[in-house]
Amino acid sequence: MRNLLLSSALIAYSLLGMAHASIGLKDDTTPSLDIGAEVFNQRCSLCHGSQGMGEGKIPLKIPDYPDTNLFTAQKASTKEEIYNTVVYGSMLENINQYMPPMGNELTWTELESVSLFIGFLRNEPKQAIAKLSDLDQQSSFITLGKDVFEARCVLCHGKNGLGDGRMAKIIKSPPPFNLTKSRAPAAYLKRIIEEGGQPLGRSPQMPPWGEQLSADELNAVVEYIISLRD
Ligand code: HEC
Ligand code: HEC
Repeated sequence: MRNLLLSSALIAYSLLGMAHASIGLKDDTTPSLDIGAEVFNQRCSLCHGSQGMGEGKIPLKIPDYPDTNLFTAQKASTKEEIYNTVVYGSMLENINQYMPPMGNELTWTELESVSLFIGFLRNEPKQAIAKLSDLDQQSSFITLGKDVFEARCVLCHGKNGLGDGRMAKIIKSPPPFNLTKSRAPAAYLKRIIEEGGQPLGRSPQMPPWGEQLSADELNAVVEYIISLRD
C-alpha cells in the first residue's frame, strides 16, 4: 500500500510539471457539496452509477469492466487521494485505464467539490444519495417542461421561444410573444397559460391550456419558458 501510494505520488508529481497550467481551470466559486453532487451527476454517474454503487451504463455494457462501486473500492481513501484520482485518473500507475483523467476538463472548484462529494457519499450515504435524487427530479422536471413546450407551444412561439413558430406567419398584431424577452413573474405566466390571453386583456390568439395540462405539466412549462429568457 505504501509503495503504491508512493509511486502514484511520484507520478502525480512528474505529471504536475506538464499538466500544471491546465489543471483545474480558473474558477473562484467556493467548492461545495451541491456543486459536487451536480458534477457527479453529470460527469461520473455514467460509470460509477447514479448512486455511486457502480451501476453505471458503461460498466453494464463492457465485460470484465473494473469495479466502479465507490463504496467498496479502496484505491483512494483520503481526500487527497480522491482528488488525485479524479485529476489524473488512469495516468496514475495504480488506476485502471477506464478511469479518465478529469484535471483538464473540470474547473478547480468542480474538482474540489466532487472530491468532497465522494467523501460525503462514503460517510453519509443517505444524505448524499438524497442530494443526487433531488437533482434527478429537477432534471426530469425540466425535461417535462421541454416536452410540453415542444408538443404545444412551438407551433406559435418557435423552438427557442423567439415567437417565430410556423403560425407566426398567420398570427400578427400581436404576434406570438417572444418568450426570451418576457419578464413577467411566474404567477402571471401560470395564469396566462392556464386561462389564455383573453381574460387577462391580452390576445385571444394565446389559447387557454388549463384543461389540457396537469398541474405538474403547467408548473414545468412555466419553469421551462423562464429558462429560455435571455
Ligand atoms: C468512463 C468511466 C468513468 C468515468 C466517467 C469516471 N470514472 Fe472514476 N473510475 C472508473 C473506473 C473504471 C475506476 C476503477 C479504477 C481502478 O480500479 O483502477 C474508477 C475509479 C475511481 C476512483 C477510485 C476509487 C477507489 O477508491 O478505488 C475515484 C475516487 C473515482 N473513480 C472518481 C470519479 C469521479 C469523481 C468521476 C467524475 C468526475 C469519475 N470517477 C468518472 C471509471 C470512470
Ligand atoms: C396559436 C398560437 C399560440 C400557441 C399554440 C401558444 N401561444 Fe402563447 N401566445 C400567443 C400569442 C399570440 C401571444 C401574445 C399575446 C399578447 O401579447 O396579447 C402569446 C403570449 C404568451 C405568453 C405571455 C408572455 C408575457 O410575458 O406576457 C406566454 C407566457 C405564453 N404565450 C406561453 C405559451 C405556452 C407555455 C404555450 C404552450 C403551452 C403557448 N403559449 C402556446 C400564441 C400562442
